[in-house]
Amino acid sequence: MQMVCSSRRCEGVFLFLVLLAFSAAAAAALLEDGVLSNGDFETAPPGGFSSDVQFTDGPTTIPGWKSNGTVELVESGQKQGGMILIVPQGIHAVRLGNDAEISQEVKVEKGSIYSVTFSAARTCAQLESLNVSVPPASQTIDLQTLYSVQGWDSYAWAFQADENDVRVVFKNPGMEDDPTCGPIIDDVAIKKLFVPDKSKDNAVLNGDFEEGPWMFRNASLGVLLPTNLDEQTSSLPGWIVESNRAVRYIDSYHFTVPGGKRAVELLSGKEGIISQMVQTKPNQRYKLIFSLGHAGDACKQPLAVMAFAGDQAQNIHYTPNSNTTFQSANLNFTAKAERTRVAFYSVYYNTRTDDMSSLCGPVVDDVRVEQSGSCKIRLGGFVLVFCFVLQLFLFVCV
Ligand SMILES: *[C@@H]1O[C@H](CO)[C@@H](O)[C@H](O)[C@H]1NC(C)=O
Ligand SMILES: *[C@@H]1O[C@H](CO)[C@@H](O)[C@H](O)[C@H]1NC(C)=O
Ligand SMILES: *[C@@H]1O[C@H](CO)[C@@H](O)[C@H](O)[C@H]1NC(C)=O
Ligand SMILES: *[C@@H]1O[C@H](CO)[C@@H](O)[C@H](O)[C@H]1NC(C)=O
Ligand SMILES: *[C@@H]1O[C@H](CO)[C@@H](O)[C@H](O)[C@H]1NC(C)=O
Repeated sequence: MQMVCSSRRCEGVFLFLVLLAFSAAAAAALLEDGVLSNGDFETAPPGGFSSDVQFTDGPTTIPGWKSNGTVELVESGQKQGGMILIVPQGIHAVRLGNDAEISQEVKVEKGSIYSVTFSAARTCAQLESLNVSVPPASQTIDLQTLYSVQGWDSYAWAFQADENDVRVVFKNPGMEDDPTCGPIIDDVAIKKLFVPDKSKDNAVLNGDFEEGPWMFRNASLGVLLPTNLDEQTSSLPGWIVESNRAVRYIDSYHFTVPGGKRAVELLSGKEGIISQMVQTKPNQRYKLIFSLGHAGDACKQPLAVMAFAGDQAQNIHYTPNSNTTFQSANLNFTAKAERTRVAFYSVYYNTRTDDMSSLCGPVVDDVRVEQSGSCKIRLGGFVLVFCFVLQLFLFVCV
């Protein structure tokens, strides 16, 4: 009897070790956050970049990527019809002709949420868009609005992995008269997203905006978050972008942010809205608190936000103060339901004073929704102690 038992235990240990080895191997094979294989398109194709060689035969092959249709490697400074093509970063980028696509297979973790960051520029002053997908999920991103005077922007799009091997696809859905028109893509990166834990005393998830899409350490334009109504698959966990236009995700390396390393800059007035449904108790009084500031990007004043919490709305102006770059703002409200919408948009349509055309606006950060009245917090403390004692009790007993 005893022998059987101990051999079972051995089996258990063996199984455990095998599982451990397997999970270690799986972890090693998983994709790391950051740029995709040749995601910056700077790796030379087998025959060299076309500018380096006299003759090219056959279609361009792009290391790391599969392509279909007219896909072309373009070089910075390259001219077309009197226009210089824009390469967002480095020397090379890729251009997608009518109905053309590029794709790359990536290893992910089934069930997890990932955000893809990429830079895109349009080539002709026509309606251009880009369909980014990880089938069956897809989104068509409108490149019509130029947010930065540089002529390109970075965008983020999120998906939930259905499989462990997925294909990231960029397709130009356009059918333009001029087949050489078509979006330019560069700097493709991916990041696995984590949904931050909900805190006891703040109903807002990711209110400090620290969790979000991949940002290149040296890319200075921030990352645009286009319309996304699905809070489950959002590049900005917890939040949705419910407007037609994008908001900009910014970092402290290139912008002024009120707290931590990340924040959101609201652009294009009412056309750029972020919101979150937070859990509330009906009839309970709450306070929405947030930081309101400027991004340090020479944005033309005045800056103001419209803040919403349930049925309350308030227009809050940013008051420039030489000592600080942000101020704390708040709004009292009484919850009417189990879920309350918190939302922000910029009151004005601001542009930068230095180039007069890049879009900019007020910065929102550290958003909190707290219950009004301090006895709740004390009760929270008590509950915490109680849980701790209970846990201790269970631990000792088991
Ligand atoms: C390439 O694209 C065309 C048109 O969209 C499609 O019919 C064809 O199946 C694609 N080929 C491959 C290899 O994906
Ligand atoms: C950003 O950094 C990467 C890697 O360090 C480098 O290859 C790239 O050229 C840089 N981009 C810019 C715009 O400086
Ligand atoms: C975008 O591409 C995906 C996958 O190729 C496709 O299913 C979807 O219909 C496309 N969307 C549009 C608007 O073309
Ligand atoms: C800035 O700080 C100084 C010193 O702390 C103070 O005297 C001054 O009033 C502050 N200015 C503003 C606009 O708050
Ligand atoms: C919210 O209510 C608190 C008192 O509970 C008050 O001190 C504060 O000024 C109110 N805030 C606003 C914006 O009305």
